Amino acid sequence: MKISDKEKQELEDIYQSFLNDEKILRMKEISMHRGSNCYIHSFKVAQTAIKRALRHNKGNLHTVLIGSILHDYYLYDWRVDRSKMEHHLSAHPYVAAENAERDFGIHEPIKKVIKSHMWPVNFSDFPKTKEARIISLADKHIYVKEIVCSKRYKAKREAKYLRQIRTLFPKK
Ligand SMILES: [Fe+2]
Ligand SMILES: [Fe+2]
Repeated sequence: MKISDKEKQELEDIYQSFLNDEKILRMKEISMHRGSNCYIHSFKVAQTAIKRALRHNKGNLHTVLIGSILHDYYLYDWRVDRSKMEHHLSAHPYVAAENAERDFGIHEPIKKVIKSHMWPVNFSDFPKTKEARIISLADKHIYVKEIVCSKRYKAKREAKYLRQIRTLFPKK
């Protein structure tokens, strides 16, 4: 999908406003796999999902972008709050969708992509739209990349990840 420079800039502006949003920055406190955290993970998923949507000519780019940035906006750390551990895998998409609606006023299509990103764990919540399928697959792709790297050099890796997510589109 070819998009104009204006559309590209519009997406980059949305990405930047989320990247620097105080509410979103809280996701940095939530650790994830091997040197990643919820913040890094979400913006990496956004970059991958947008790249794929453009490559395969699929979906509403705003929904893909905002849905992927907010797909894990559940705002608790089950490693700290053990009461959340047992149902985390299946419950967090619904918590994230509610939080995202409360804090960013998102509409139903974006809520839907957030809720279905954990398919097939949540088997009844199949990602029905193109946008939802792109995000669900991008999430799994990034997750696998995060867990296959070693536990060593965690701090170094975190700094590298933070550099990588600075912009949605790489600067030429
Ligand atoms: Fe998730
Ligand atoms: Fe995720």
